[in-house]
Amino acid sequence: MPKRVLHDEYFRKAKAEGYLARSAYKLLEIQKRHGIIKPGMTVLDLGCAPGSWLQVAAELVGDDGLVAGVDLSDVRAPMPPCVITMRSDFTKQDAATLLEPVVAFRGDGSLYDVVISDMAPNTSGAGDHYKSVRLCEAVLERLPGVLRPGGSLVYKVFEGETYPDLVKRTGEMFSWCRGLKPRATREVSTEMFVMATGYEPALKQASRPEGVAPPPPQPKKGWGS
Ligand SMILES: C[S@@+](CC[C@H](N)C(=O)[O-])C[C@H]1O[C@@H](n2cnc3c(N)ncnc32)[C@H](O)[C@@H]1O
Repeated sequence: MPKRVLHDEYFRKAKAEGYLARSAYKLLEIQKRHGIIKPGMTVLDLGCAPGSWLQVAAELVGDDGLVAGVDLSDVRAPMPPCVITMRSDFTKQDAATLLEPVVAFRGDGSLYDVVISDMAPNTSGAGDHYKSVRLCEAVLERLPGVLRPGGSLVYKVFEGETYPDLVKRTGEMFSWCRGLKPRATREVSTEMFVMATGYEPALKQASRPEGVAPPPPQPKKGWGS
């Protein structure tokens, strides 16, 4: 089995180019191949700390876009003005709370254009695949309330027994879906990224979640810049 090299090419590159983590290059590669994030878009980043995907997404959406990040941990590094974050367990947040930044930003009740998730469970070896799949399922369950029809999704999952079924279920919700392993993923890692475009929620799912009020002036409930 190949040895885990901690300070590899991508680690050094991230340091040199000012990214907070080597993970930045995974999203950059996905973006290079599929061009999912465009200037002016709104992006929800789940499992965003320490913040390298926030950095990449912020560069891509630019000053006219929005990136909202959620993580169990604080994002401590300074971020561009288009980034807003909340320290929270994503699985305990309802759609209305997750939507607050985009509702305040657009002022018209829009949903996010793109949802990205690099969430990973605490790894212990046994059961990591199943824990990871549960997080991905929580993302899929929340999509009807947060992702606009036609929107895109990228999520990380630790590959294992139920991976093909997860990809299949994701594919049923989108017009295009596939799994990929970016070059920046360590050779020893089981992580895969599932990328899907053209979200096709059922008509019923596409409606706004209950309780979403007209646009508030600012996001509340723990969101901060
Ligand atoms: C690999 S790191 C993400 C790295 C990040 N994408 C970056 O580029 O800096 C995985 C993150 O998922 C977060 N996480 C795991 N479970 C979560 C949950 N239920 N809610 C929110 N964040 C979660 C962890 O706290 C951890 O910071």
